[in-house]
Order: sequence, then structure tokens, then C-alpha cells
Amino acid sequence: MTVLAIETSCDETGVAVVRNGTVLSSLISSQIRTHAEYGGVVPELATREHLRNLPSLTRLALESANVRPADIELIAATRGPGLPGALLVGLKFAQGFAYALGLPFLGINHHEAHLYSAWVRGNPARAEFEVFRPNVSLIVSGGHTLLVHVRALLDHCVLGETVDDAAGECFDKTARLIGLSYPGGPQLERMAKGGNPSAYHFPRPMLEDDTNDFSFSGLKTAVAYFLRDHPDVLDDPEKRRDLCASVQAAIVDVLASKTVRAAKRLRVDTVTVSGGVACNSSLRHALTMGCQQAGLTLRVADSVFCTDNAAMVGLLAELKAAHGTPPTDLDAEIEPGWSLGDGDKVECGG
Ligand code: KG4
Ligand code: ZN
Repeated sequence: MTVLAIETSCDETGVAVVRNGTVLSSLISSQIRTHAEYGGVVPELATREHLRNLPSLTRLALESANVRPADIELIAATRGPGLPGALLVGLKFAQGFAYALGLPFLGINHHEAHLYSAWVRGNPARAEFEVFRPNVSLIVSGGHTLLVHVRALLDHCVLGETVDDAAGECFDKTARLIGLSYPGGPQLERMAKGGNPSAYHFPRPMLEDDTNDFSFSGLKTAVAYFLRDHPDVLDDPEKRRDLCASVQAAIVDVLASKTVRAAKRLRVDTVTVSGGVACNSSLRHALTMGCQQAGLTLRVADSVFCTDNAAMVGLLAELKAAHGTPPTDLDAEIEPGWSLGDGDKVECGG
């Protein structure tokens, strides 16, 4: 099946063409430069950029996949969660395209698309669903931090999530306090290299807590108080590196420990990780160590599929279509608050 997929949930415009589990093309137009001068994503600007980018990016994605509009069999787009204006542009563009070509359309949950991106490998990239194993999956991004039990393909439930800021948001906000530019996560990682992660101690929120939930806003506040009391740290390059390494260690410690603990409790043999923060090499290292010690197999999404992209949307749409998921109405609305956990968290709790 040939799928054209659109992703516009936040600040990356993504268009991809996938066929039979293989990514034929996946283009991303990043808006980082547009938003960097404001220190974060400006929703109105993101909406306009998506609107400007989508037609040309779609043409390019089809051309580089060597696919004509007449070859497309399914259109998919992210329906939520995300920024309302941004989602609206991508969803309506995709539904209009589907209407014009008389094709079925599938609205996709952005978290669910991240969830299965950990199974995509190789060049050309392919979804290796044939080697799927039940797993515990950590989705860590700018807008979400979720721990999910994936019992079978398309059968998953949320074990826990952040009760306040997402892990990526914590990276971005603390990086900003340290004076790094947006998006702060990759910058903070770069600064942390060569720093001492034990130089300063920051709280590991909810680490010992028995739930699978996370909390990161207290850590951000702890960094703000630390900087208020020790402003000199920012003037000394070595201390600044130590600070970045110490903040990163606190975030990574909580994410890795809780993920491995949940996998052991649920007796799965595999852990998967996806979302923008999964690019972080310190997190990858901590999870590799934790999984090795616990005898777990770790699958981290390839870096190109960690941050927002449309290939993961197309691959999930194809999987869903193959499993008989009915098409989404062409007049279906966006779902900006669509949580993967809606309704099933209690059932899955242990
Ligand atoms: O998945 P994504 O592209 O967008 C959302 O759905 O939110 O994730 C973006 C987030 C940002 O918060 C960014 O700072 C973070 O991922 N991020 C990182 C790294 N690369 C991206 N955080 C820590 N270390 C990184 N190397
Ligand atoms: Zn995302």
C-alpha cells in the first residue's frame, strides 16, 4: 500500500511517502530558526509556516519517492495532540487531498506514531514489525513524557506520564535559564560533554515513588534557585559544563530508572524509546546500561525518526489499515488534547 503522510503537530512540517513498510521519502522543514529568536515555539508563526511549506514539500516528497498522486492509496495526517492551528493546517490539507483524489484518510495520534517509530531501521528505512516483541516504551519529547506497555502491535496502554512538564520541556527551560538558545535540549547535551554530572546535586523527582508517573517542573525550579544563589557559575565555563552535566544526569536518571523498573515489573524482555529527547546520548547510555543489567533488549528509535517526522505517521497508518482500522471521516476535526492514555490508565496500572 502507498501512503502519503503529513505531520504538523508542532514546529516541524513533515511529509513522507511510505510503501509496504518502507520509507520512500521523508522530508522535514524545520522552523527552528523562525522560533529561536523568541526562545520557544510561537503557535501563530508555526501555523503560517506549515501553510507555506506544505504544498511544495508534498510535491518534493512525491517526486523524491518517484510516486505520482495517482499511485497513492491512503492519506494520513496527525490529528492530535499538538498546537491547534498547526494541526488544523496539516489535517485539512490532508483531508482536502484525500477528497480530491477520492482516497481513504486516517487521522493519527502523534504519540502513537512516536511509539512505533522505535521499530524503524535501515537504509532505506523499514518498519521491522515482524520482529516486534511486547515491550515497555518510553516516549520522551518536548510536549510529552509517557511510559507505555505495548502488549501487542496496536494494543497498548499508558502506565504513567508527566504530571507537569515534559522531559524535553525541562531540558529546554533549564537550558534557557543557563543562557542557551532554543531548542535547549541538544545545546545542553553539547555543553554537558566533559562536565562532571556529580558536581551539583539536583532532585530526582518521583524517582522513589511507586507510580510510573514523572514530574519535572520541580527540577526546573531547583535550577532557578541554584542560579539565584550561585550566579557566578554561569561565568565560569567549567562550572557551566558541570551544571549542564548535573541537570542532564538528574533528568536521565529518573527516565532510565523508571523505564527499566516498569519493564522488570511487567516481565517484558524489550524496552523501546522514542521522541526528540531519545536523541540524547546520555539517556541512550543510561538505558543501555540499565537494560543490560536487567537482561532487557533495548530498541531506541533512529535519531532521524526521534524528532517529529511524517514517516512514523505513514508507517502507523499503513499498519492500522492492514489491521482493519476504518478510515477517519473527511470532516473529522483536530484533537489538540488527544492523549494516548485517555481512559485506559487504571486498567493497565501495574
Ligand atoms: O519529538 P520532538 O521533535 O517534538 C515534540 O513532539 O515535542 O522533540 C523535541 C524535544 C525538544 O524539547 C528538544 O529540546 C528535545 O526534544 N531534544 C533533546 C535532544 N534533541 C532534541 N533533548 C535532550 N538532548 C537532545 N540531544
Ligand atoms: Zn513529537
